[in-house]
Amino acid sequence: RILIVDFGSQVTQLIARRVREEGVYSEIAPFQSAAEAFRSMNPKAVILSGGPASVTDEGSPRAPREIFDSGVPVLGICYGQQTMAAQLDGAVEGGHHREFGRAEVEAISASPLFEGVWEIGQRYPVWMSHGDRVTRLPEGFEIIGTSENAPFAAVADENRRYYGVQFHPEVVHTPHGAALLRNFVRRIAGCTGDWTMKAFRAEAIERIRAQVGSEKVICGLSGGVDSSVAAVLLHEAIGDQLTCVFVDHGLLRAGEAEQVVTLFRDAYNIPLVHVQAQETFLEELSGISDPEQKRKIIGRLFIDVFEAEAKKIGGASFLAQGTLYPDVIESVSFTGGPSVTIKSHHNVGGLPERMNMKLVEPLRELFKDEVRDLGRELGLPDKFVGRHPFPGPGLAIRCPGDITAEKLGILRKADLIYLEEIRRAGLYDEIWQAFAVLLPVRTVGVMGDARTYDYVCALRAVTSVDGMTADFYPFDMKFIGRVATRIINEVNGINRVVYDITSKPPGTIEWE
Ligand code: XMP
Repeated sequence: RILIVDFGSQVTQLIARRVREEGVYSEIAPFQSAAEAFRSMNPKAVILSGGPASVTDEGSPRAPREIFDSGVPVLGICYGQQTMAAQLDGAVEGGHHREFGRAEVEAISASPLFEGVWEIGQRYPVWMSHGDRVTRLPEGFEIIGTSENAPFAAVADENRRYYGVQFHPEVVHTPHGAALLRNFVRRIAGCTGDWTMKAFRAEAIERIRAQVGSEKVICGLSGGVDSSVAAVLLHEAIGDQLTCVFVDHGLLRAGEAEQVVTLFRDAYNIPLVHVQAQETFLEELSGISDPEQKRKIIGRLFIDVFEAEAKKIGGASFLAQGTLYPDVIESVSFTGGPSVTIKSHHNVGGLPERMNMKLVEPLRELFKDEVRDLGRELGLPDKFVGRHPFPGPGLAIRCPGDITAEKLGILRKADLIYLEEIRRAGLYDEIWQAFAVLLPVRTVGVMGDARTYDYVCALRAVTSVDGMTADFYPFDMKFIGRVATRIINEVNGINRVVYDITSKPPGTIEWE
């Protein structure tokens, strides 16, 4: 087991994820409570995360001293490296060359950290993001890798098994980063790698039971993979203390409601309330075009429905959701941190403050592909586990501008054709997410001999590993042409189709 001390980096969870990928259990503790966590966990090694602070600032966070006194291996990443250097009597200076993005590190000295991954004298791409840098090493340390702007890009005290890197090995933009972390976790810390999703399942069930006790829980089911996996996990943990509520807000794709109800009621025998709230949602959203306002309204209405359902079953103290880590990180903005609110994903930031129920979010640490693994572990059918993500606010955020029943009807038809063609071409599983967007723009066309003046439909398809970054999917032009022709011919109200070739960043996956 590994302890990760969190100094507030946006990507701390990625470190945890890489460690899990090595089959090793890890826990993240905020730096404030790291000493306590270290004592109770007794880890085999510690990783110090990056963070937005500067070690040169008075009162900036530090790692608990006892970690360094305990003799366990320590890996400091970015801020973690700097605080380690400062705490062990090295020196750190602020703001020479700020370095963000791609850089190259040359491996200059043999180390177990590089073994089988980096060869001496070779240069390798890494991802940097720092303003400060280490300028003098503590005693016992030597440089093992260097870059133009960060002479101390990788350092080691092999005797004490302390390692520090200025770059971020946990992000995919550092191509060998996962292998370097593997070396730390396996070779240096000696972890064996026998932790699995099966173990996560058992731990999660224990955590849910401890949190919920004998209280009742309402689980908001959207039909997506996340909330479905959460529901099945909860059902396993607390049985009939759980009631699932599926809200049809009128913003679902074609056929979605039937599929969800069938799966849960018939295949799983999990009690499911199917709430028909189409009219309320459409009325409240009428005339609203601001994306954040849409999310907030939808979040509020969801809670209204959940609270009403909670009353009906004699009161539920908890609301369970399938919130994932990327939802959390993109919705939360840490004070003083670099992380700003991009979107209030409704199952996180869009929740009204007045909510009476406490949250149960058993998937909060996981990334999408890990949730899929967990779903398989729980016996959910492959076809279901492989479903593309679908956002809680549904088609509302795929209909920029104000939403009307008419526009939603048009969008549903186009979306259905698009996905039908993707499945027929055998591309569904290669794509992370594909959907149609109905633009609030009309353009002129000619069909038969007549002039048309109709909406534009944008098609979106992306590949991604975790939804945090994404590339547009490079369809064959013939395929996209075929889809466009079908949509224009078969869907009244659309006379033009465009394909979105924006990646994330700078775009986001959804249009709103
Ligand atoms: P973005 O658009 O932020 O999307 O790049 C990343 C992933 O999150 C989904 N998404 C949402 N899910 N409520 C959700 O439950 C939301 O408000 C929301 N907004 C985006 C999106 O579909 C993609 O998979």
